[in-house]
Amino acid sequence: MMKKVFVAGGAGFIGSNFIRHLMAQRPDAHVVNFDALTYAGNPRNLADVADDTRYAFVHGNVADAAAVAAAMRGCDAVVNFAAESHVDRSIEDAADFMETNLRGAYNVLVAARDLEVERVLHISTDEVYGPATKENPRREDDAFLPRSPYAVSKAAGDMMCHAFAETYGLQVVVARPANNVGPYQYPEKAMPLFVTNALDGQPLPVYGDGLQIRDRLYVEDNVRALLLLLERGERGEAYNIQADNHVSNIDAARTILDVLDKPYDLIQFVEDRAGHDPCYYMDWSKLRALGWQPEHDYTDTIARTARWYAEHRDWWEPIKSGDFRRYYERQYGDRLANARPYAGTSS
Ligand code: NAD
Ligand code: DAU
Repeated sequence: MMKKVFVAGGAGFIGSNFIRHLMAQRPDAHVVNFDALTYAGNPRNLADVADDTRYAFVHGNVADAAAVAAAMRGCDAVVNFAAESHVDRSIEDAADFMETNLRGAYNVLVAARDLEVERVLHISTDEVYGPATKENPRREDDAFLPRSPYAVSKAAGDMMCHAFAETYGLQVVVARPANNVGPYQYPEKAMPLFVTNALDGQPLPVYGDGLQIRDRLYVEDNVRALLLLLERGERGEAYNIQADNHVSNIDAARTILDVLDKPYDLIQFVEDRAGHDPCYYMDWSKLRALGWQPEHDYTDTIARTARWYAEHRDWWEPIKSGDFRRYYERQYGDRLANARPYAGTSS
């Protein structure tokens, strides 16, 4: 039974959903949320548990080894979400990605080893495998072929976990989730960007021809899988997490507009992402064998997500009116000026 869980990066999208789930499901567990509060970290994501005596927040950076070790002391479990997580930002500049996603992951592993933490869960990603298809899904032992600077930094952290399990016998498990969707996702990511832009009557910038495919894994399904892996995953093993909710970006954009009752001509085809991965696909029978199943299909996932953003303008409007505006102008200014309008088809 876990008594005190050190969570790195718990103020972000998946981390905050995980902490809420953990505290609801394991009433005896205490949480230390260690987070640098980068642009993507937001204390408001956990406002509902902030005053709980079982919850403590520590403002710290995983790149600072001494700070990680000091905050982890006394914890018997560790979950590492801390990362620079946006592929487009890694294309602009990946220095912070190497610092957090590799050095930070290393520091978390060193502290867990030295403090003899009983269980460690590291959050990796399906992007480490590179592109894959339904006909040839990636299994956990398959080779890594990451293609973006983000994916490479995540592959490095993932492999370091393997090294710590093999070399030091650390009880570390790696999770490789697909593309998560749901409440509290920073609106730079495609689904919350499309939803919030649609709510404001602004264009939905679809990259390229919009035919790239992503699995849309509802974040609540993902965090159930993560708690299961923290408690029951086997040392040194990786586990794929996928909902089989694969759909193209253009179809996802249309579903969002249907749910929000907005016109399709809000869609704008813009310059593609460099090195854009067409699709990820994983075999997740290893996780299924532990008893996990996704509970939300594609339509339900998108509908719940769209409704949540429609009902929580107070959460995302302050984000989109701040530094985000400069980012948006850098990423989308020229793209939208040269966009191709929606004409009923994607081609
Ligand atoms: P996010 O960007 O929403 O949150 C990242 C969190 O980490 C933020 O709270 C941020 O403040 C914190 N952080 C960043 N750098 C830090 C540092 N140096 N020290 C301490 N804290 C730091 O990310 P997310 O979407 O919640 O993703 C969480 C994890 O899951 C990441 O490791 C990501 O690579 C992985 N992942 C995400 C998805 C997805 O679809 N979102 C899918 C698969 C895997
Ligand atoms: O698959 C797991 C990964 O999912 C995680 O490891 C990453 O942390 C997470 O950000 C996510 O990466 P993606 O690149 O798949 O997510 P993003 O929301 O940025 O893009 C989803 C798809 O939508 C992708 O094919 C690119 C496209 N897209 C994205 C943006 C931001 C657009 O068409 N327009 C956009 O404006």
